[in-house]
Amino acid sequence: MAKKIYLFDTSLRDGEQAPGIHLNVREKLEIAEQLDKLNIDTIEAGFPISSKSDFNSVVEISKKIRNRYIAALARAVPQDIDVAGQALENAVNPVIHTFISSSDIHLEYQFKKTRDQAIVLAADAVKRARKYTDMVEFSAMDATRSDRDYLCRMYEAAIKSGAKILNVPDTVGYALPEEYAALIDYIINNTAGIEDVIISVHCHNDLGLAVANSILAVQHGARQIEVSVNGIGERAGNAALEEVAMIIDTRKNDLNVSTGVNLKEIMRTSTLVRHLTGYAVAPNKPIVGKYVFTHEAGIHQDGMLKNRTTYEIMKPEDVGSQASKLMLGKHSGRHAFVKRTQELGFNLSDEELEKAFAGFKELAEKKGEISDDDLKAIVNNEIREVEEYFSLKYYQVINGTSIKSTATVGLEVNGNFAESASYGDGPVDASFKAIENITGMKVMLVEYSIEAVSGGRDAIGAVKIIVRSGDVEAMGSGISTDVIEASIKSYLDALNRIMLSKKS
Ligand code: KIV
Ligand code: ZN
Repeated sequence: MAKKIYLFDTSLRDGEQAPGIHLNVREKLEIAEQLDKLNIDTIEAGFPISSKSDFNSVVEISKKIRNRYIAALARAVPQDIDVAGQALENAVNPVIHTFISSSDIHLEYQFKKTRDQAIVLAADAVKRARKYTDMVEFSAMDATRSDRDYLCRMYEAAIKSGAKILNVPDTVGYALPEEYAALIDYIINNTAGIEDVIISVHCHNDLGLAVANSILAVQHGARQIEVSVNGIGERAGNAALEEVAMIIDTRKNDLNVSTGVNLKEIMRTSTLVRHLTGYAVAPNKPIVGKYVFTHEAGIHQDGMLKNRTTYEIMKPEDVGSQASKLMLGKHSGRHAFVKRTQELGFNLSDEELEKAFAGFKELAEKKGEISDDDLKAIVNNEIREVEEYFSLKYYQVINGTSIKSTATVGLEVNGNFAESASYGDGPVDASFKAIENITGMKVMLVEYSIEAVSGGRDAIGAVKIIVRSGDVEAMGSGISTDVIEASIKSYLDALNRIMLSKKS
């Protein structure tokens, strides 16, 4: 029988450490709910000591998600562990994931600890974590650049202190597949008590080997893989959940392992994470890229028409991705809209449906035909609007090659109408300056990107921005067929998030 491989998702912890990703509690909860639908085994919900928002995310996810293991990260430091334990108080299946480095490079230059001191700290951390839960995971950070015998001594100390999962991080994404596999073999053969614990792998993708290393490690005895949706994470990210799940499914007869992942939720999960994090997915990204099930070359199309298996090892339907079948438009009624959103995997409440349908009608009036990609963008945008302190009433720009751009913007500010005009270096700058005049909020624009959601000159433009106000960074997104309007909406979305973070 195929051996079960546990998937531990770290999108909300390691993923959230990626530059430019800032998820609030509500957004993290939404991703956790989607991971629940995906049937993931463990959700690493945050690093509670690191911020109030991380602490609250772990608390809220623990309350809401009852069927999964919920993990919280803690350094091998008493206060970290106590705070993680408190954050997990409501979890049905809590996991404290504690870590310390095992490599000489980290111990000497970063932690200023001797090898012996680090082992004592690891053992104490696991013992302390066991006061809060039986399920303690211990990670030896930078394991792949550590002395192997020392690493095994550290793991033995963790096992003796009560760890149930030993994680072997390739923290800097340096290991070659055969080296990593040999390390797993070495740990299995040289660590007393290893047969009583689960070996977990956590591979970073700096050299593009995270998924390959994780799969090979499983063939050498690892039982848990740490993954993230779309591969988000520190630097080049972590092993991509969707790739790991589909490799294991597609090659199940050869690997003889299985995950419990509900594959049909993969696309939906990827889209949600892409939307909420603002991290784009390359069109050729395995499994979830826009074109990975599209056959362009004549010879491939010919083969596909004769028999799909000539050029297709997986079906788009397997991962919940469907070729667009039905085009909705301004004449489409609520019934067709509801049916299509359900087919795309959305399960909307009545209130969400009202908002999404209104957004759809508004856009269909302007654009005519609405594709599946448009529809996903509209629904995602409408159902998770942040509480609106500022909202757009109207805008007007005067712009051209030989004149200075001018924008006039009217906003509703906490229920009252206010308007202002400004010059600027282009229509977006002029609009943002007019908004600054109204709101009095001076923020720095850290990032701005625009993407066409679907094809055609009338495609929806999706604008993502990151702004900074003091030490608070906020992400904003907005969509419209008019890119100036999309820019204004994303800017207001970011300002609303700043207002929200000031309140909490
Ligand atoms: O990459 C790493 O080493 C980590 C640990 C905290 C597990 O993320
Ligand atoms: Zn990591």
